[in-house]
Amino acid sequence: MNTATLLAVTALLLTPGVQAEPDQLIIAGRLLDVRSGKLLPDQAILLEQDRVHSIVALGKLSTEQQALPRTDLSAYTVLPGLIDMHVHLTANPSAHGYRRLQQTPARQALFGVTAAAATLHAGFTTVRNLGAAGFADVALRDAITAGEITGPRMRVSGPGLCMTGGHCDNNLLPHTYQASGDGVANGADAIRAKVRSNMKYGADVIKFTATGGVLSRNTDVNASQYSLAEMQALVAEAHDRGASVAAHAHGLRGIKRALEAGVDSIEHASFIDDDAIKLAKSRGTYLVMDVYVSDYILQDGEAAGILPESLAKERTVGQLQRQNFSKAVKAGVKMAYGTDAGVYTHGLNGRQLNYMVQWGMTPLQAIQSATLHAAELLNWRNEQGQLNVGVLEPGAYADMVAIAGNPLEQITLLEQIPLVIKGGKAVKAP
Ligand code: ARG
Repeated sequence: MNTATLLAVTALLLTPGVQAEPDQLIIAGRLLDVRSGKLLPDQAILLEQDRVHSIVALGKLSTEQQALPRTDLSAYTVLPGLIDMHVHLTANPSAHGYRRLQQTPARQALFGVTAAAATLHAGFTTVRNLGAAGFADVALRDAITAGEITGPRMRVSGPGLCMTGGHCDNNLLPHTYQASGDGVANGADAIRAKVRSNMKYGADVIKFTATGGVLSRNTDVNASQYSLAEMQALVAEAHDRGASVAAHAHGLRGIKRALEAGVDSIEHASFIDDDAIKLAKSRGTYLVMDVYVSDYILQDGEAAGILPESLAKERTVGQLQRQNFSKAVKAGVKMAYGTDAGVYTHGLNGRQLNYMVQWGMTPLQAIQSATLHAAELLNWRNEQGQLNVGVLEPGAYADMVAIAGNPLEQITLLEQIPLVIKGGKAVKAP
């Protein structure tokens, strides 16, 4: 080989995206193709470093490929690692309400180390973290990326944006203390500046609150927060920066306004009606409905420090949200999986799958919401434009989970996943 050829070959190998040779292979007894919903028997997933190189039927492996180091999962059903689109890894579920005031963002980040490991071991290889004080979520994400600690891939929002006294503000203390949430901004210009500053300090997505919330003091879940003009400025600024927008909204007016402003997802969507469902459908907006968490709040919330007024609010929200979830599923709105873990115990992220099935989804739809559809909302892609997560396809990270039975027949199998692989490495094995 002359120098020119050598240089050309080297350049080719170093060009990102040019698939080199696979270096490892994983044998799946059955592989769930989350696009078609088919369970494909005896598949070989060929990996190149931390990504999927290709997938072939076991019988079609070349002699060289057969010689690669292999992980034999022929007794298992393999599917893409799960995605939770609404978590708070830095939140301690046993320290709600006034207890949280004792925790600095640094303390919350440290709590997040354990929460991140629990989440990953539950089979959630990617999460979207929506709201953290002091950019504790950025710290956590970066420590995971650097390999210092173990956890899922994180896409983070930094502090959620809201108006003064809104759901993301700190409304616990009287005026004397001058306490306020990191994400408070009022008026289009201040909101644009806050979006820019969140991006500057490491946010991947923008979260804001379009209505009051259950767990915040002195906010009304039915009352809208932010005017249409404020929301439009927020969405325009975020989209200009290449970030998507997640709007927390329980009440109908706030839901409709956020839809009109062009957000990418409505979180909670508790009181959504048929008209708003239609609007979401026509605009292609995702709903991320946390239909499990109500059980935790009502059963364990008081002991965890949740305020009595929040428990009262939850009693008006939980069941209606589930009924409206059923309507939205029937109408065929796009849905992505988000649990609000952090309000409840980290690592129980998979529990909501069964709730979604109880309230109208097929097991496949529930799995798609936590894989393919979550990934499409996340829209996190490699240089070739292929999805990084949520699918097992060439170019995606080799993130997968394996279970002993068929999740299309028994969705609860995904509540206790024995085997988790992230970036081609086993992070949990039986
Ligand atoms: N973080 C949300 C809030 O405070 C939790 C809502 C939980 N309840 C529910 N039914 N999804 O508003």
